[in-house]
Amino acid sequence: MVFRPVLSVLSVLILGLSALSSAAYAQLSGHGGPVRGVAVAPDGQRAVTTSFDYSVILWSLDRGEANAILHGHEAAVNAVVVLPDGQRAATAGDDGKLIFWRFGDTQPARVVEAHAGRIVALTLSPDGKVIASAGWDGSAALWSTADGSLIQRFEGHQSNVNDAVFSPDGTMLATAAYDGIIRLWNLADGRLLREMTGHEFSVNALAYLPDGALLSGGSDETVRRWNTATGEETSRRIAHKGPVLDIAVAPDGKGFASGGIDGMVRLWKAGEEKPVHALAGRGGPVWALAYTPDGKRVLAAGNDSVVRLWDAATGQPLGDSGGEPVETAAVTAAAPQDKGAAIFRRCGPCHTVTADGGNRAGPTLHGIFGRKAGTVEGYPYSPALLDSDIVWTAETIGDLFTKGPDVVTPGSKMPLQKLVRQEDRDALIAYLRQVTTP
Ligand code: HEC
Repeated sequence: MVFRPVLSVLSVLILGLSALSSAAYAQLSGHGGPVRGVAVAPDGQRAVTTSFDYSVILWSLDRGEANAILHGHEAAVNAVVVLPDGQRAATAGDDGKLIFWRFGDTQPARVVEAHAGRIVALTLSPDGKVIASAGWDGSAALWSTADGSLIQRFEGHQSNVNDAVFSPDGTMLATAAYDGIIRLWNLADGRLLREMTGHEFSVNALAYLPDGALLSGGSDETVRRWNTATGEETSRRIAHKGPVLDIAVAPDGKGFASGGIDGMVRLWKAGEEKPVHALAGRGGPVWALAYTPDGKRVLAAGNDSVVRLWDAATGQPLGDSGGEPVETAAVTAAAPQDKGAAIFRRCGPCHTVTADGGNRAGPTLHGIFGRKAGTVEGYPYSPALLDSDIVWTAETIGDLFTKGPDVVTPGSKMPLQKLVRQEDRDALIAYLRQVTTP
């Protein structure tokens, strides 16, 4: 991993979230963990992103500024669609919930218990009235954008469903599953029309071209094209080194973008076998892609918590989107020779340590020693921490990482992570004491 020494810790911490506006169309930095979903509003002015850090961020795209951080999910948030009115969005995550948001409000407008397992993808119907969700409970489902009610559920997948997309005429739903099979369903009567096989492993992403051809991306590194009328595979290309994670079709329908676990974004022309551009974001796996409505820019959601913007015509990064990996403040703060600091890199994406560092996915750890659990003002704790009598000390923090948050604070939304070695815990606690004590 390459570190960028010039990125001073202080400047990053002081800049904070709202002030991270730089050049127009720069990258979007604000999440505290991998970004899993990205969508752009119809007016092209706003974007919504979702992250492993449990949060949803509403961005002003032209200024690269976070306008609101929305908390409502109780787990990683994987998918987002902006509704056609441009005033609402729906998000879904590992908590199986489908949450509707109205821009300007900080509380969810509606929370729907949508799947019995994690939801990994959402898509909007061509008329904008229906949302399709893909779940790891082995089902896909359709929801009304008007009132969030369930319209239909498609079962009969033998495995996790990774994506669900509407045909351009709105009469069919295609689903992609972990078993490598693409299934085509008739929306009018819910009947399974066809199974399309060919992918060797999991199918991760689907997208229709306007002419009705279906594109699929899989863990077998390929993007394939299908004639859904006959079920035939009509073309295939090796798109990435490793699994293809997402596909987005350009608004004019003449090309598409693919993102992969190899950290690359590739831009393709619909009929050509070689990519037009290969964009190296250096942010690790690219989990999600979206075009702006004018087709001029591509947004790529990165594993390093950053959303990068690219010029779709030239393949050039916009703002500071290319170049070296951007490390979070906490990572940069870690002097490599200090073991505790090195271990704290696991915490840094979600926790700051200074008085003015603010909250990320987790509350600031400033003054953590002697602090009662769940008491940072303004941070949306889970009831588990709000109701806890724990006072954080070397011992109780140590417990958190031997027994795990699920035992020490049952119901906590801090993800499970254990430090099994005593020396690692000691080093972490010594480091925390040093950097969090006021
Ligand atoms: C992916 C995000 C994430 C990571 C990584 C993470 N935490 Fe947390 N942490 C949270 C969240 C979210 C909460 C609040 C939990 C709640 O409200 O239930 C939290 C709460 C805490 C608390 C209790 C704070 C309080 O005010 O009561 C401590 C202490 C803590 N984390 C320490 C750590 C340490 C040390 C690490 C690294 C070894 C770490 N966390 C890694 C997300 C994270």
